[in-house]
Amino acid sequence: MNQNPLLLNDNPEEKVFEYIRYLLENGGPELQDYEKFTSIINAINPEDVDNFRVKIKSVLNENTLIGHGFVKPYGYPGDFTLIDKIYRFDVNQDPKYKNWDIFFQNQPGANAVRNRKNFFIEYCKKLVLRKENAKILILGSGPASDVYEFLSTHTGCNNLTVDLIDFDQSAINFSKEKNKKFDGQISYNKINALRFNSYKLYDLIWSAGLFDYFKDKHFTFLIRKYINCLEEDGEMVISNFSTKNPTKRLMEVLSDWYLNLRTESDLFRIASDANVDKELVSVDKEPLGINLFLKIRKTP
Ligand SMILES: C[S@@+](CC[C@H](N)C(=O)[O-])C[C@H]1O[C@@H](n2cnc3c(N)ncnc32)[C@H](O)[C@@H]1O
Repeated sequence: MNQNPLLLNDNPEEKVFEYIRYLLENGGPELQDYEKFTSIINAINPEDVDNFRVKIKSVLNENTLIGHGFVKPYGYPGDFTLIDKIYRFDVNQDPKYKNWDIFFQNQPGANAVRNRKNFFIEYCKKLVLRKENAKILILGSGPASDVYEFLSTHTGCNNLTVDLIDFDQSAINFSKEKNKKFDGQISYNKINALRFNSYKLYDLIWSAGLFDYFKDKHFTFLIRKYINCLEEDGEMVISNFSTKNPTKRLMEVLSDWYLNLRTESDLFRIASDANVDKELVSVDKEPLGINLFLKIRKTP
């Protein structure tokens, strides 16, 4: 293992690039490097981002999770393969890339994604206890790994039906293959959530990892639209990454992955802009407080 160059050089900029070279030679940051590497990224000015990416270009490719986000093989950063890999804590075992993936998977943002899957599963557990023939609609379903995990671990939910909406045909294909043992219970719909029209009413309308990409006006539009698709005792749950996301700059600088981060009060304001009564709205979060959940009931 090479010696950490932070100890050897005096020029601050050179010191940073020597340190990056050292990380690249070591296959990525190890646990003792996390704090230093993160503080370097957090201190990079917007005008220096491109130059920084050139320095780490040997890992900004599909061999790493950060590179997958950067390359965007499906045209957007959080695609179904990346999200599914986060859920499975997948790590490239090639020593050139392994530590980069372990670093990515250990970031609070990745943990918050895994936590939101657990949040979904807890919701479904309560729902099937309350309603035998529950109907769920998922907007921006991606890999549908959350659905797969719930149905695989909670057998006997044969009357539960799930309608998936995603505008990416590759995501639909992947989720269909993944969930093939639940054929008949799940419908797959390749359509933009902004355009989908439902003739059915749902007990739960769930959306995770989608509204963070929308501007407030689309967020409001979708609440107005989908509240009409809820059963009288139904609920809509929408996740949004918080402004407190500590992984924000890592996502932006390394993966060119930008989200519309929001506060709890942003979410209350958006619900109010969509003309939803205050008493029908609450905001919840997963244990890290990074993924917020706007919850809207149809009736009190
Ligand atoms: C970050 S993934 C989240 C996947 C899944 N909900 C989860 O949390 O595991 C977002 C998904 O939303 C889909 N998506 C993005 N914009 C969409 C839109 N306007 N309508 C439907 N799907 C959309 C993408 O194709 C992608 O599969």
